[in-house]
Amino acid sequence: MPGIVIVGAQWGDEGKGKITDLLAEHGDAVVRFQGGNNAGHTIVRGEEEWKLHLIPSGILYPGKTCVIGNGVVIDPRVLIEELDGLRARRVDVGGLRISANAHLIMPYHLLLDSAGETRLGSNKIGTTRRGIGPCYADKAARLGIRVQDLLDEKILKKKIVAAMEPKRLSLRPYEKDPALDLHTMTEEYLVYGHRLEQHIADTSKLMWELLDAGKNVILEGAQGAMLDIDHGTYPFVTSSNPLSGAACVGTGIGPKAIDEVWGIAKAYTTRVGAGPFPSELEDDTGEQIRSRGGEFGTTTGRARRTGWLDLVALRYASRLNTLTALVITKLDVLSGFDRIQVATSYRGADGAEFEDFPYHQTVLHHTTASLTELRGWKEDLGECRTLSDLPDAAREYLDFIAEHSGAPVALVGVGPGRDQVIWTEAGRDTLIGEAGGVGSGAPA
Ligand code: GDP
Ligand code: IMO
Ligand code: MG
Repeated sequence: MPGIVIVGAQWGDEGKGKITDLLAEHGDAVVRFQGGNNAGHTIVRGEEEWKLHLIPSGILYPGKTCVIGNGVVIDPRVLIEELDGLRARRVDVGGLRISANAHLIMPYHLLLDSAGETRLGSNKIGTTRRGIGPCYADKAARLGIRVQDLLDEKILKKKIVAAMEPKRLSLRPYEKDPALDLHTMTEEYLVYGHRLEQHIADTSKLMWELLDAGKNVILEGAQGAMLDIDHGTYPFVTSSNPLSGAACVGTGIGPKAIDEVWGIAKAYTTRVGAGPFPSELEDDTGEQIRSRGGEFGTTTGRARRTGWLDLVALRYASRLNTLTALVITKLDVLSGFDRIQVATSYRGADGAEFEDFPYHQTVLHHTTASLTELRGWKEDLGECRTLSDLPDAAREYLDFIAEHSGAPVALVGVGPGRDQVIWTEAGRDTLIGEAGGVGSGAPA
């Protein structure tokens, strides 16, 4: 079972980092395929917490091959800081490989991201202001600067001039910003190039070699399906495709290399930034979920918006990704509610009922969630390790999710810790396979 894709099935922050770290123990390589340092992936091991933004969540295993694929946009300053931070904590980062074709976030991308948000005023997207959108825009406009350009001063300078020329007007307010001085910028990025050179590689070729050798490769998504630029809640989305289909393009492999697609979803819903959120709770219950779940952004520290689980969106994510399994995280956070609600359909402004995710923006913006009420439970789930340890109501909740989302539940999270998971039979069956694959560490 060579290729397994891990994707967010909601609006991001579902716990992809934790699950990737867990599966990586028995994987041979972990690969990021899109997004940039807008991502914040948390791993908790014992007393220690790690927050990764660009480096794949397999890096904590000494020497593990970790690849930043061509589909990722890289802010080299942030990447170097992250590498230095890991080294300072004695993590062996020798297995990191960076695609020479990945695009670079430049100082002007950061300025343009912030300027764009300011210009939109009350209609702003609520981006992470990390330059992600402007960098992908330059990539599409064929004005991007790639990792390989860091290794050639002449080319780098020429490309920076060409990339900045069409932005002259929008960058005028920052004319005096030293970060935009051509010489300073080139020098700065050449230094980054020297620092990163040992990690730069032809990562597509590396992927083929790994897959040809029957190695287990984990492709780690960032963000989530509802933030997808094509299928998400446009324009309140990110500028890449966080769907499983992008795992191929973003690393240089074909779809036949993918065996499993696992979608990660919280037992409820969160969203950071603006945009439609039909099952949002702007009341005490929402506040309780936020404080119990520690729902504050890993990257920007912003309070995450919270709401009940949205099965309309989850079913949509399941179809968009061809999910073979679901991982439900943070089930423990729902302990203590008498009743739990889930969105099973949407109601439009005119009273029309939607079973499927509405494709039209105006319709979507005026829908509210139609909720189904389920039994809650009081017990703390932190110590549960098998499905039979869970209260009946929690098991019923998982069954309800599986039935309505169209994917079996493989794994359940009952706390942030690495061991705070419950493997289901479906999880062991799909992942272990005959030869013992990525999940062969799952308890039998
Ligand atoms: P990612 O971006 O998808 O990797 O998710 P984040 O790291 O941004 O946010 C998920 C948060 O939930 C992190 O703080 C995790 O440590 C935490 N977490 C993950 N799984 C669980 C779980 O099952 N229960 C609890 N209580 N916390 C979890
Ligand atoms: P992980 O990988 C949650 C959101 C931003 C904003 C929108 C566009 O940790 O799940 P961008 O900076 O990408 O142009 O912002 O997307 N967003 C995320 N929300 N988790 C993330 O990543 C996100 N990355 C971007 O809040 O609404
Ligand atoms: Mg996150």
